[in-house]
Amino acid sequence: MSTPRIAELQSHAGQTVTVRGWVTHVRSSGKIAFAVIRDGTGVAQAVFVKSQLDPAVWEAFGRLTLETSVAVTGQVRAEPRAPGGFELGVTALEIVGPSPSDYPIQPKEHGIDFLLDHRHLWLRSPRQRAIAAVRHELEQAVQDFFYERGFLRVDTPILTAAIGERSGLFSTEYFEEGTAYLAQTGQLYGEAAAAAYGKIYTFGPTFRAEKSKTRRHLTEFWMIEPEVAWNDSNDNMRLQEDFVSFLVARVLERRRAELQELERDVARLETVKPPFPRINYTDAVAVLQKKGSAVKWGDDLGADDEALLVEDYDRPVFVMNYPKEAKAFYMKENPDDPRTVLCDDCLAPEGYGEIIGGSQREDDYDKLVQRIRDEGLPMDAYGWYLELRKYGTFTHAGFGLGLERTVAWICGLQHIREVIAFPRMMYRLKP
Ligand code: 4AD
Ligand code: MG
Repeated sequence: MSTPRIAELQSHAGQTVTVRGWVTHVRSSGKIAFAVIRDGTGVAQAVFVKSQLDPAVWEAFGRLTLETSVAVTGQVRAEPRAPGGFELGVTALEIVGPSPSDYPIQPKEHGIDFLLDHRHLWLRSPRQRAIAAVRHELEQAVQDFFYERGFLRVDTPILTAAIGERSGLFSTEYFEEGTAYLAQTGQLYGEAAAAAYGKIYTFGPTFRAEKSKTRRHLTEFWMIEPEVAWNDSNDNMRLQEDFVSFLVARVLERRRAELQELERDVARLETVKPPFPRINYTDAVAVLQKKGSAVKWGDDLGADDEALLVEDYDRPVFVMNYPKEAKAFYMKENPDDPRTVLCDDCLAPEGYGEIIGGSQREDDYDKLVQRIRDEGLPMDAYGWYLELRKYGTFTHAGFGLGLERTVAWICGLQHIREVIAFPRMMYRLKP
């Protein structure tokens, strides 16, 4: 007996097959009964006609409950009115695993904490499957984008001795070496690799022990960080707008059904094309103040400011050249205004805020030493990083795109906690 996945039923029309999956819905008129089966690739309706069935099969139908796992055998027929477009005229039914009637997630509203506590089961919902499919599409598109452009993927360490960004660090004991820190970024290693291989990107998990409970912070998230030798800040933004536009176009092209499941307004994605508007930080502050924000020159922009700034645009916006004190030590001083650095944040439209942080890197040995000192960072941890400036320094730039924020924006979700299978947040380490 062939055992196609539900998505493959189309090519089995007329044949008798066995479908294995989980029951999401049952109804019966007493003579004819229906069970909707989900297998992760789609849903199919199984039709049970009492008068044509072995009584044992009809009796087994009566034991089907929400999330019972089954193997249903029957003839595949096209049925435009059935969910999925095909149905099975059932001849046999095997109950693989019963599911007691206390299945926690019922077809009604549940609170978010309840759902997160039952995340291992919540994943089975069509909405969660749609989000996972968009995430996967983006992961594949990331690989394709860089592969097609001749970048090498470099996998950088998660256990590190050096630190990268300013926010909190997770630490763990590391044999005789003392404390190891979970990587907040792969960037510093990416810079070493860029001097070796020219164009590289990293793609991996990163960790921030931030005590923020906002809708856009996780303690563990995935980041894509390209680093390109000989790119300046301007080239860096061009790469970002090409990259982000490529990602959005890919999802629009291949994941329409999922966007529809999520009720995403795709018109808001179709306008995402280069070039993206560029606003100087100093001008952005003036605009924000005019709009009533309390932001002062020198502050980093908060989520509310970012939302206020992008409301006039139909695509992502770059805010460029922030004050030194608002940004990380490795960013290159802006020769035209040394109070600022050559950097950009890419802000997604519709209030989603920062999805990318990028910059040209400080390539002057002495200036970098000074920044490390000014920030009070441990000089010995950065010895190897400084050698990248000592032995053949080079203009280079790169950026980090947060995968979860990007998925949340493209899917139109309020909170990034639904965007990763098992989110890690300040108050959540289980399941
Ligand atoms: O702006 P960030 O901190 O930049 C860096 O880490 C640089 N080293 C990147 C680089 O230049 N190579 O983080 C980059 C992006 C943010 O724009 C955001 O999308 C995401 O990472 N991000 C988070 N996503 C979820 N939860 C958090 N706590 C995040 N912190 C940053
Ligand atoms: Mg940032």
